[in-house]
Amino acid sequence: MPLFLGLDCSTQSLSALVYCSDTGEISYVTSVNFEENFPEYETTSGFIKGEDGSCSTSPCMWLDALDLLLEQLKAKGAPLDQIAAIGGAAQQHATVYLNSAFQEKVGDLDIGQSLADQLVGTLSHRLSPIWMDNTTSAYCEEISSNLDVFGKDYVIWATGSKVTERFAGPQIRKFAHTNPDLYKNTSRIHLCSSFMASVLTGTDAPVDYSDASGMNLLNIHDYKWDAPCMEATARDLDQKLPELCSSTTILGDIAPYFAEKYGFSADTQVTAWMGDNPASLVGMNAAEVGTRVLSLGTSYTLFAAMDEVSYDPNSYGHVFCNPLGGYMALCCYSNGALVNEHLRKRFSLTWEEFDEVVLDALNSSSRIPNFNKPFLVDEITPTQPANPEMEKLEKFKFDVIPAILQSAFINIRHSSSWITSLSDCIFVTGGGSQSSSVRKLVSRIFDCEVCSIAVPSSVATGAAKVAQIAYNSSLTIK
Ligand code: XUL
Repeated sequence: MPLFLGLDCSTQSLSALVYCSDTGEISYVTSVNFEENFPEYETTSGFIKGEDGSCSTSPCMWLDALDLLLEQLKAKGAPLDQIAAIGGAAQQHATVYLNSAFQEKVGDLDIGQSLADQLVGTLSHRLSPIWMDNTTSAYCEEISSNLDVFGKDYVIWATGSKVTERFAGPQIRKFAHTNPDLYKNTSRIHLCSSFMASVLTGTDAPVDYSDASGMNLLNIHDYKWDAPCMEATARDLDQKLPELCSSTTILGDIAPYFAEKYGFSADTQVTAWMGDNPASLVGMNAAEVGTRVLSLGTSYTLFAAMDEVSYDPNSYGHVFCNPLGGYMALCCYSNGALVNEHLRKRFSLTWEEFDEVVLDALNSSSRIPNFNKPFLVDEITPTQPANPEMEKLEKFKFDVIPAILQSAFINIRHSSSWITSLSDCIFVTGGGSQSSSVRKLVSRIFDCEVCSIAVPSSVATGAAKVAQIAYNSSLTIK
């Protein structure tokens, strides 16, 4: 029976599941939480907040998590020797800076040592800025003004997004300007996705179109790195970026390190890694036009497949490449799961009690008031600073909870209204979708039916399904 392993390297954890394409069954669902398992990296919820407001994490932590996750799968008796292909997806936009030793070292991994110990010396920058980093506004302005000669809207037309703080391009420009020597010493810049794919294959893997569209560097019309955008971003960038490929590309056999250490068959195939939201589009069976997905994870995202490119008139939304062809629209909100977590802790509630407070408000005849700016951290859609009131909520005044949640979803509905041609149903996924009160609230605000698909992780499921598609088409080609 053909089995596929799906991996998801998200902000807070690395997760895996095994997908059987004959039965559709999902098994061996396993997850490694970064903060809990790796206190030595000093992250909170998987990231490190710098004094200047920057947000980053350690690529070595992802590597340690990969070793631990595979160890756990092996210990659980997962049939790793029967996995036909491995697919993966990762948090979008995180950049990994590597020196010239990377290519050789990644191709020669020793099973006697951990991945992190062997690859730490190949990092030209110890940390990777992640999608939560919004400290690049000045660099965004510089890139935009460097591109002015091509027309005001060139970057939006070419890359699907305005120059955006968390995207890889502005992050690279910031790195090149603040650490010129380290930038010079950088031979390769990977995304988290292509970095993990490189390690799994022991090669210098390409970036897939879906994740490359979160960089302000990919021309989404001809699927090539965009020369004006590269030049406007940083010196010699064309030499430092990896190759590009479609999401259904088989990269090759798994590296011997994994076959020997964890028991994979030596000819297990590895497919290109994707961005987590594009993978979730596939995992939610929403890769065809018509279904809107609301993903309620660390970030909240709303996305939907599109046949043709259409842009957000307010420029907060993005156009990414759909892993299965065509495009997808996406809006991302930084005030996601962390807000609910904050409210629950602030009011000392269990998740059940939290749900009850929101359901009571929804079932009551009185109107839920609005809460102005329900932002615990700086919001990106639309750009708004964190609201200090969120830290000072008065204990026992529980009615503020439904008000905050309602206002957050009204903002999502309002800012995503440019995404058109959708069915009357909205699919929800991510941790937050487990909550019945949240589902009810979403249904009320979006005025439509809410459906959830019973998959433990839509991202890892999407990754496994894309691996299956790529694997099957490679068999046909053979
Ligand atoms: C999307 C985005 C986030 C990350 C989180 O643009 O920044 O959803 O992908 O994983």
